[in-house]
Amino acid sequence: MIKPIENGFILNTKKTTYIIGIKNDWLLHLYYGAKIQVDNLDFLYQKFDNGRGNAVIANNMMPQYVNFEISTVGLGDYREPMFAFDTCLGYTCNLKYQDFEILNKDDSLLIPQSYNENQVLKLRLLDEALKIEVILYYKIFYECDVISKYVQIKNLSTNQYIIDRAMSSQLDFDSSEFEMLTFEGAWANERHLKVKPVESGIYINDSKCGASSNNRNPLVILKRHNTNQHNGECYGSNIVYSGNHKTIIEATTDKRMRVLAGVSDYATRITLDDVYLTKEVVLTYSNEGLNGLSQNYHQFVNEHIIRGNWKYKERPIVINNWEATYFNFDEGKLLKLARCAKQVGIELFVLDDGWFGHRDNDTSSLGDYSVNRKKLPKGIKHLAEKINDLGLDFGIWVEPEMISVDSDLYKAHPDWSVAVPNRELNFSRNQLVLDLTNPNVQDYLIESLNDLLNSANIKYVKWDYNRNISDMYSKTLINQGEFFVKYMDGLYRVFENVNRKFPDVLFEGCAGGGNRFDLGILCYFQQIWTSDDTDYLERLSIQSGTSYGYPPSTISNHVSDVPNHQTLRISPLASRFNLACFGVLGYELDLCALSKRDLFEIQKQVLQYKQARRVFQYGKFYRQEEDAQKVIFLSVLDNAIAGVFQKLVHPNQQEDTLKINGLEDNVKYKVESDTQVLNAKIFGGLINMISPIKLKIGGTVHKLVCKYYKLKQTQESYIVYGDALKNAGIKLHGQFLGTGFNNNVRVIVDFGSNLYYIRKVNSK
Ligand code: GLA
Repeated sequence: MIKPIENGFILNTKKTTYIIGIKNDWLLHLYYGAKIQVDNLDFLYQKFDNGRGNAVIANNMMPQYVNFEISTVGLGDYREPMFAFDTCLGYTCNLKYQDFEILNKDDSLLIPQSYNENQVLKLRLLDEALKIEVILYYKIFYECDVISKYVQIKNLSTNQYIIDRAMSSQLDFDSSEFEMLTFEGAWANERHLKVKPVESGIYINDSKCGASSNNRNPLVILKRHNTNQHNGECYGSNIVYSGNHKTIIEATTDKRMRVLAGVSDYATRITLDDVYLTKEVVLTYSNEGLNGLSQNYHQFVNEHIIRGNWKYKERPIVINNWEATYFNFDEGKLLKLARCAKQVGIELFVLDDGWFGHRDNDTSSLGDYSVNRKKLPKGIKHLAEKINDLGLDFGIWVEPEMISVDSDLYKAHPDWSVAVPNRELNFSRNQLVLDLTNPNVQDYLIESLNDLLNSANIKYVKWDYNRNISDMYSKTLINQGEFFVKYMDGLYRVFENVNRKFPDVLFEGCAGGGNRFDLGILCYFQQIWTSDDTDYLERLSIQSGTSYGYPPSTISNHVSDVPNHQTLRISPLASRFNLACFGVLGYELDLCALSKRDLFEIQKQVLQYKQARRVFQYGKFYRQEEDAQKVIFLSVLDNAIAGVFQKLVHPNQQEDTLKINGLEDNVKYKVESDTQVLNAKIFGGLINMISPIKLKIGGTVHKLVCKYYKLKQTQESYIVYGDALKNAGIKLHGQFLGTGFNNNVRVIVDFGSNLYYIRKVNSK
């Protein structure tokens, strides 16, 4: 896997190779891509036989044109550097290779980080004049084709140095013929895929708000122009971190490209007294298209990021009371909702915001996690018992990192919030952030969470974080340039403690929806609330975008009410369910207010999901090429399920073809569509074309017909070999077109969808 050879190192995973060279004690980057066989490195070195204009010559090289494994400042490489140290000798830094070590297990104290790597390579470098030692860590995850990197920086001198920038990973490429894929957005609008061609210049994908952010997720993909979902080369970079991150892509005019990734240097200067560890950047490569890349990451997350008792465990179906009640509930209302939830087969009840202090809206009580006796006079323990008696598990919402000025905690510790002395307070959602750089605040949180989770039979926690950081300042810090990194270190200390004490609790991360959907959070929380936006159409893009880097087992989706609370859009219940299935399913609406028909449908949905839960949560996930009209997702385990999701209807289009990847070529599969009942209402006045009597649309008889007449959607069924499903695909029946309607026509309205179940013939 890690092979030291003369003047370099070859790192192999199952399908990739990464090669580092050593020349005149400098580390060069020689190759990263599809697996190759190499036993000497001569053929890979850049030759530079002729001069190149005004290039600086250092160490017998022209650094400006060299593909390096790392880069610093001051030696004639004018691209963005991986490291920038402010020292008594200026910024110039010359790190020379010293020696290496190969381990079977990481020996550093980095938190958080992935685990169960196959091997670790440590390369030690030294700047002799500055006495700065740098150790590059490479962790190999053979099976999922992932190599992760981070760096330890040590000050061996008695001088004080400042780290202006320390990235975790550098990748220098010969070519900048790539497109850059980033996942951008805002609240209720997270992780929308953006594709931009890389032209010469410098591109940055980063966050500066203290969280990994809904503006720009840390995942960055670089793909060749012709790479699609199924074929072609692509590289991924992500970071095991939940704070400010940064990826810099610099494409030079001679079409070289450098990709740097790590913790952001925004408003950050670290004092290097002793040792500093950067965070872990996770790289992958695939020449099997974007699905290949995503599958590498999915496997990596499930196997090497998610830990503890929930690893590979099926996640329960929840009912969450937020959109059902918002702040307006009492015990009776909650139990009524829980009863309805139990009736339809839901497994866990989540009590969301508003249960503590005197919190009747979002202006108060954050920090005071003692029960609101007005709403719940008998307390949380009693409520949890009642819920348990109904046969449901109980879960609870908290927002530990925040504080309301109107709270007992603020009265006791006004200096525990993040604020700059002698300046006005700046609020977001009426709240302030707790100063987690302060160990006393960390201890307080550890203790109060401990008390809460011990106080009742709590099986699930939704950990929210509803504002970004501004006005960074802490009286506990000498160097305010360390605020952002120390905040995250403090937070991870709290996470570590809580996880350790409550290994059986399922944690769902949340940050006003998906403001912190990242690999750092997933080291502690097994799933994440994807977005506050549960609208079908919006979710198509949000879930699709999220799936590029994160597996379905981590993507929490709820079926909510219509009109949707974020967009006021109406979409069919079946579609809201079908889409929410591709991940961890939950419900978030007032079930008790639904019609019998809808409740019956939900009961069927819950059963259907339970039967296929493992496929949805842990199957190999594929995106088919998306077009303006539809999105297709596919989850494959032994059997498979495809979701065909329509956006808007465009009449008289080519028939839909359903291709299904990932099956065994020589095995026969039965492909069957789900059964949906259509409400005759969707046909409007057209119903009179078949009705024996003329109906007044909207009249009593018409209403009765719509209520009782069950119009089944066409059910499709095919038996096809795996290779045919992948390569040829199934031509589905034509969609409704206003002409020639019969039983075979698929009636799929705007935002309609179908699930297709694919089972091996002869299997149950
Ligand atoms: C955030 C979450 C919601 C809900 C509210 C409660 O917005 O994303 O799901 O929990 O907070 O205040």
